[in-house]
Amino acid sequence: MADPAVQSRGITRREFLNYVWGASMALFMAELGGAIYAFSLPRFKEGEFGGKKTIGSLSDKLPAADKPPVAYPDVKVWLANIGPEAAAKGGGKPGLVALYKVCVHLGCLYAWVDSTNRFECPCHGSKYQLDGTYIEGPAPRDLDRFVVKLVDDKGNVVQDAQGQLLQTVSDKSSPDYGAPIPLPANASNLTIVVETGEKLELGKRHFYKGGA
Ligand code: FES
Repeated sequence: MADPAVQSRGITRREFLNYVWGASMALFMAELGGAIYAFSLPRFKEGEFGGKKTIGSLSDKLPAADKPPVAYPDVKVWLANIGPEAAAKGGGKPGLVALYKVCVHLGCLYAWVDSTNRFECPCHGSKYQLDGTYIEGPAPRDLDRFVVKLVDDKGNVVQDAQGQLLQTVSDKSSPDYGAPIPLPANASNLTIVVETGEKLELGKRHFYKGGA
């Protein structure tokens, strides 16, 4: 039997419950839509750690080959240009590399030391060479790297003359996983971009040849 109080306002109990159910469903769908939209947005803004960092033009921002790296503390990055000397010491390839500024032992911030020409961690003494190769200390592996890329004025990753993308290889099965990206001649109009959400762990290579 219909509730007299509800009937007196001109609707039955069934109609009233239908309205309540409909309003609840509409609210649920609105919340679900909002959650899906929020999930689809990038989690990190451009320029902050975890997102994309545009460093600047290659002609302005490229560190000199085999010279001290340049720090970008806001995104926890060291940018280094691995020349023939550092590549020979580390047993890797020359090119541009972006290193994660956090020590792979217990997470301290290591620093570049000019007098020894290497990275040194103040906490427990781990040492790494310019390309992040492990030298000594308790660190379990080489320094982690981020994906770095060279893009054109439209933001597209460019290719070298052999058709190779100028972007750090993030496929673990590739022999070039995490390797420095080659620096083509006459490419000063390109822009350096680091993806700080794409961290690569290289393991411990033991290729370091020693010497300052
Ligand atoms: S945190 Fe760097 S050596 Fe321990």
